[in-house]
Amino acid sequence: DQTSTSNDGVQDVVESLKSSGKNFVVFYGSQTGTAEGFANALSKEGSQRFGLKTAVVNLSDFHVSFLNNLPEDIFAIFVMATYGEGEPTDNAVVFHQSVVELAASTSGDKPLQALRYACFGLGNRVYEQYNATMRRVDDALQNLGAKRLGEAGEGDDGGSIEDDFLSWKESMWTHVSQVLGLQETEMEYHPSFKVEELQSSSNTALLVEGAITAQRTNLIPILKSRELFKQHRSCLHIEFDIGGTGMTYETGDHLAIWPVNSTLESDRFVSVFGLKDKLNVVPFPCPTTYEALIRFYMEIGAPVSRQLILSLAPFAPDDDSRAAAIALGNSRQLFNTRFTNNYYNIAQALQSLTPLPWVNVPFAMLLESISRLQPRYYSISSSSVVHPKQLSITCVVESVTTSSGAGVFKGLNTNYLLWLTSKARPASMNGVRNNTDGNGTGLIHVPAYIRHSKFRLPKTAKQPVIMVGPGTGVAPFRAFIQERDAQAKAGMEVGRALLFYGCRTRDEDFLYRDEWMEMTAHLGDNFTLITAFSREGKEKTYVQHRLLENADIIGDLIVNEKANIYVCGDATHMAREVGSTFAQIIAAKRGVQLEEGKYALKTMKSRGAYQEDIW
Ligand code: 2AM
Repeated sequence: DQTSTSNDGVQDVVESLKSSGKNFVVFYGSQTGTAEGFANALSKEGSQRFGLKTAVVNLSDFHVSFLNNLPEDIFAIFVMATYGEGEPTDNAVVFHQSVVELAASTSGDKPLQALRYACFGLGNRVYEQYNATMRRVDDALQNLGAKRLGEAGEGDDGGSIEDDFLSWKESMWTHVSQVLGLQETEMEYHPSFKVEELQSSSNTALLVEGAITAQRTNLIPILKSRELFKQHRSCLHIEFDIGGTGMTYETGDHLAIWPVNSTLESDRFVSVFGLKDKLNVVPFPCPTTYEALIRFYMEIGAPVSRQLILSLAPFAPDDDSRAAAIALGNSRQLFNTRFTNNYYNIAQALQSLTPLPWVNVPFAMLLESISRLQPRYYSISSSSVVHPKQLSITCVVESVTTSSGAGVFKGLNTNYLLWLTSKARPASMNGVRNNTDGNGTGLIHVPAYIRHSKFRLPKTAKQPVIMVGPGTGVAPFRAFIQERDAQAKAGMEVGRALLFYGCRTRDEDFLYRDEWMEMTAHLGDNFTLITAFSREGKEKTYVQHRLLENADIIGDLIVNEKANIYVCGDATHMAREVGSTFAQIIAAKRGVQLEEGKYALKTMKSRGAYQEDIW
């Protein structure tokens, strides 16, 4: 059987592991839920496949001093994501720091000799500090005498993290089952709770803790919205009122918004799992329905995973669909062709196997296997100095259709926001939708909170800044320029600001065109917008090409005037290419080798003179 720990109290964790006789525990450090999902999958597999008594523990509930007090013979797995520039996830900050410090301070004694563990790190190769958190924790544990079984797994979010996980997992089980002498049991599903008992389940506590009840979350009203462009795709500018909420933000922060699943997808899920007749029977901490759980708490629109298909296969409604599910789950190629390439979610995938509903799948299993809905983050595009009580975001409404036209992937939250805002009052002549009543009170609300970032303008307004933000990557720079404008108006001396902005064509998707003109008029030589229109000429012109063309002035600003550099937008290609362009420019300016330019950039990063807000 399995349990999860709730946030009830750190002290309880070891006690509850002991008293419930656990022999297998998975610790997770998770930011967006992927690591947590993997941890749950490992725990479930341990209990179903090997009959282990498993538990999943949030590292925020755990302290390093408990490590040598764990139940004897317990086997531990650490699944930890690396976040940003090599940092641990919020829930693992304390654990990470204390285990690293403990290892550094140990003078050769090995307090954790009894501990055997395995580990899997989640990271993204785009970042220089790939998987740094898990690597540091792994080293620290070994220094403390703990023994790792098998290879340290690493998943690349920029590649196929699920495949990385699946292949590590198999070799991990081989090692672990040999050392621990595990026998495979008949596959059977033992949920960690009965749906009828949800009230007392910590899983539900975790679920509800999600959206509205999350501490920092407020329902914040939308004041105004407009579509900045709607040719081919649509881009939303939305203004929120935080005046009545007590929330505060700083220029460069993010707004986190909790999404809601669409009626289409919620209904599909309900019908695929045959839940229609059971719509009103969930005694949640407060009574609720399956439908509400599905719609507000479960990430049902995520691309289906092979793991999920394989774990649902035993519950297929007939032999043919069971065989098909197993075949698809076991073949990466087949799976990609049938499901991944069509952007199928779980309900769409199962629906394509058989018209019969999958009524045998225990709902508890769905709750456990499907991630909780996670907030979506948006760089705030307004300045907190200029608009302390209001903030805006700028987002492209995501919709991707497969080349065959068979599948469509719709970004969950941006489509929801488009629907929400366009359902409100009709657009006026200039396209601005006013979402307030006669008294200026917002009529539509979304659950949201502020996520603080480290993306900050220099402390002194005099210091020059170079900003690179193609597409919606320009969002925080709108805020930066608003702020510099306000500072100039207040009589402060402001430094030069160069903004490199790229989009397809000047007439299709040029964001905030009029505002830049206005700012140029205000700030004069202290603000320069340099554009790269990628689809106007025969050859693609990107922001990095413009950087090279302006190498002299950029080199001078960096080397002689201590300019800060800011990059915002696509992480996979843009930010990397822009980074190497800067390294090239610095090297040329100093007359040194490229390697030295790269090194200079690295030191700029570490002292906060080169900052990224990339996704
Ligand atoms: P494209 O779509 O025409 O290729 C905002 O999305 C802008 O960024 C678009 O003009 C887009 O061009 C461009 N872009 C795409 N890939 C990029 C890259 N690797 N580096 C910089 N800009 C890129």
